[in-house]
Amino acid sequence: MAKTCFLHPLMFMLLLFVTLGATLSKNSHNISTDQSALLVFKSHITHDPHNLLATNWSTSTSVCNWIGVTCGSKHHRVTALNLSFMDLTGTIQPHLGNLSFLASLNIRQNSFHGSLPIELINLRRLKYLNFGNNSFDGEIPSWFGYFAQLESLLLYANEFTGVIPSTIWNLSKLEKLSLFNNNFKGQIPTTIGNLSNLKRLFLDNNSLSGNIPIEIGNLAMLEYLVLDQNNLNGK
Ligand SMILES: *[C@@H]1O[C@H](CO)[C@@H](O)[C@H](O)[C@H]1NC(C)=O
Ligand SMILES: *[C@@H]1O[C@H](CO)[C@@H](O)[C@H](O)[C@H]1NC(C)=O
Ligand SMILES: *[C@@H]1O[C@H](CO)[C@@H](O)[C@H](O)[C@H]1NC(C)=O
Ligand SMILES: *[C@@H]1O[C@H](CO)[C@@H](O)[C@H](O)[C@H]1NC(C)=O
Ligand SMILES: *[C@@H]1O[C@H](CO)[C@@H](O)[C@H](O)[C@H]1NC(C)=O
Ligand SMILES: *[C@@H]1O[C@H](CO)[C@@H](O)[C@H](O)[C@H]1NC(C)=O
Ligand SMILES: *[C@@H]1O[C@H](CO)[C@@H](O)[C@H](O)[C@H]1NC(C)=O
Ligand SMILES: *[C@@H]1O[C@H](CO)[C@@H](O)[C@H](O)[C@H]1NC(C)=O
Repeated sequence: MAKTCFLHPLMFMLLLFVTLGATLSKNSHNISTDQSALLVFKSHITHDPHNLLATNWSTSTSVCNWIGVTCGSKHHRVTALNLSFMDLTGTIQPHLGNLSFLASLNIRQNSFHGSLPIELINLRRLKYLNFGNNSFDGEIPSWFGYFAQLESLLLYANEFTGVIPSTIWNLSKLEKLSLFNNNFKGQIPTTIGNLSNLKRLFLDNNSLSGNIPIEIGNLAMLEYLVLDQNNLNGK
């Protein structure tokens, strides 16, 4: 009896520490993290001709009310960023990787340029990624293959070069892959046959070569396939 009484406070303390630890680590990223990440992002916008972020992204209102920002009701974190068609010029900052609840990132049709920081690898919940019609160059980083939830990967109309990383063909949830109007080279690998959910594939106007893999014929969901303006054999 005395032993039980002695153990109880200890157990209580242990429980308290475990709970506190869990709470602290869970809260190490919160809506304030999202706000500071977006403020750093804003500070690297070099041209905002319509003064959209300049006037609207103000700390006097919640980040969830900012133009282009959507928050989730459950965790009260930023879940979507849609800055498409805003005529913005800038670079992507590593801080964006702190938006750990981000599921949708759309910066389509702007003038973003430079390289993509590896910190984006932390965006594990990403389902939709649209960098289309910007001025990104260099190779697509192989860590794009770690976005396991990705359903849409849209990188068309940029200046990407090099080989499409092999990890991309491992994104099993991918439904839309749009890489047209870039300078990709190399072959389309047979592992493309693993993208069993793929519905739309646009690889036109690149410098892809080699044979079109017969495995594309195994993609049962495929509705659109555009491969023209490349150096591919066998149509
Ligand atoms: C966010 O977490 C920090 C500590 O990491 C804390 O100081 C701050 O009050 C939290 N903010 C909100 C809005 O929960
Ligand atoms: C920012 O834009 C949103 C969406 O257009 C609008 O609802 C909000 O009132 C604006 N906030 C400020 C401070 O201008
Ligand atoms: C983003 O914004 C554009 C323009 O306002 C809109 O057409 C598009 O549907 C939005 N949605 C997503 C998911 O990006
Ligand atoms: C956010 O990201 C940056 C750069 O990746 C980092 O320096 C910073 O400490 C991160 N965390 C918070 C809570 O802002
Ligand atoms: C890219 O943006 C330019 C300028 O707004 C536009 O004329 C062009 O149609 C866009 N291209 C694609 C592929 O979206
Ligand atoms: C693809 O996924 C499998 C299984 O998860 C893994 O073993 C393999 O290394 C991955 N390949 C690439 C190119 O990422
Ligand atoms: C092909 O892509 C390049 C960019 O890599 C673009 O300048 C050109 O207009 C595109 N051609 C066609 C026919 O769409
Ligand atoms: C991908 O496809 C290749 C060849 O088509 C196959 O050998 C491999 O097991 C597949 N990998 C996964 C992760 O499904």
